Amino acid sequence: MPRFLVLGAGGQLGSELVEILPEGETITLTREQLDITDFVKVQDTLTKYRPHIVFNCTGFVRVDDAEEKVEEAWMVNAFAVLFLAKVCAELGATLVHISTDYVFDGRKKSPYTELDIPNPLSVYGTTKLMGEFFVRAYNPRHFVIRTAGLYGRKGSRAKGGSFVDRILQKARTGEPVRVVNDQITSPTYARDLAAHLVKLAETEKFGLYHIANRGYCSWHEFASAIVQLAGLNATVEPITSDQIPLKAKRPAFSALVSVRLLSAGLPPLRHWREALTEFMQGL
Ligand SMILES: NC(=O)c1ccc[n+]([C@@H]2O[C@H](COP(=O)([O-])OP(=O)(O)OC[C@H]3O[C@@H](n4cnc5c(N)ncnc54)[C@H](OP(=O)(O)O)[C@@H]3O)[C@@H](O)[C@H]2O)c1
Repeated sequence: MPRFLVLGAGGQLGSELVEILPEGETITLTREQLDITDFVKVQDTLTKYRPHIVFNCTGFVRVDDAEEKVEEAWMVNAFAVLFLAKVCAELGATLVHISTDYVFDGRKKSPYTELDIPNPLSVYGTTKLMGEFFVRAYNPRHFVIRTAGLYGRKGSRAKGGSFVDRILQKARTGEPVRVVNDQITSPTYARDLAAHLVKLAETEKFGLYHIANRGYCSWHEFASAIVQLAGLNATVEPITSDQIPLKAKRPAFSALVSVRLLSAGLPPLRHWREALTEFMQGL
């Protein structure tokens, strides 16, 4: 019987988990292998493998598209998660589910903790918050993990690569890179998050956790650090959100910090700059 099962294994976070979980004890399923909105197949697959721990790294992640593809976003981020949580509960499996900083409205001026009250501004944020509620309601053996500004070696296919990929691509064209400086996030290296997820999942300290690299910055500062670490000469121009009207509203400030991780025996993740430096060196 495998100990671990990874859903969304082809994604940015899922692929990092696959790298670190023991190969012989892990079932990895990409979207092509298991669409989590196919309830019958989800039930059959989980019943067949009976994993101890399920990592749900799937998501309808295109924040702007979610404003129009509302039903699809609800299906993937909420209803499929409800069903998954129920099946996991029936099998006695732990569910590690990934959520987002976009459950917050961004009005707070200091990093959000697990004790802060969510108030999403977008369809994406709302569906992710409902997914959280469903996991918490249907499977007591759960870890709901909120993270932010994720990037990894394998970028998000749905978004055309990671933020790092997109900034580097643009910077290499020689054109100025324009990035918002009025949205603050906690950039998080998917590998750091994955390593913490594995450690946390082995504890019985179930509940809601914020896991992001330490510190925070604007997306402009994040992009500037990427360009500088890559040794490129491109200009990174700060702009404001109203200069690029997008369909979905985003929180102005959604840095995350945890007041719960330590009690589960885990230290905070390293600072985002340190993680980004290591990531860029490996490119
Ligand atoms: N990226 C961020 O900045 C960020 C921040 C906070 C939280 N999160 C959350 O972190 C999780 C992982 O995100 P990520 O950055 O790794 O995104 P990602 O690279 O786009 O990974 C998401 C994965 O889910 C798969 N997927 C989508 N719909 C599916 C379905 N119906 N059935 C099965 N698989 C499906 C995608 O497959 P396809 O590629 O084929 O569509 C993709 O492999 C998500 O829950 C996201 O909401 C992300």
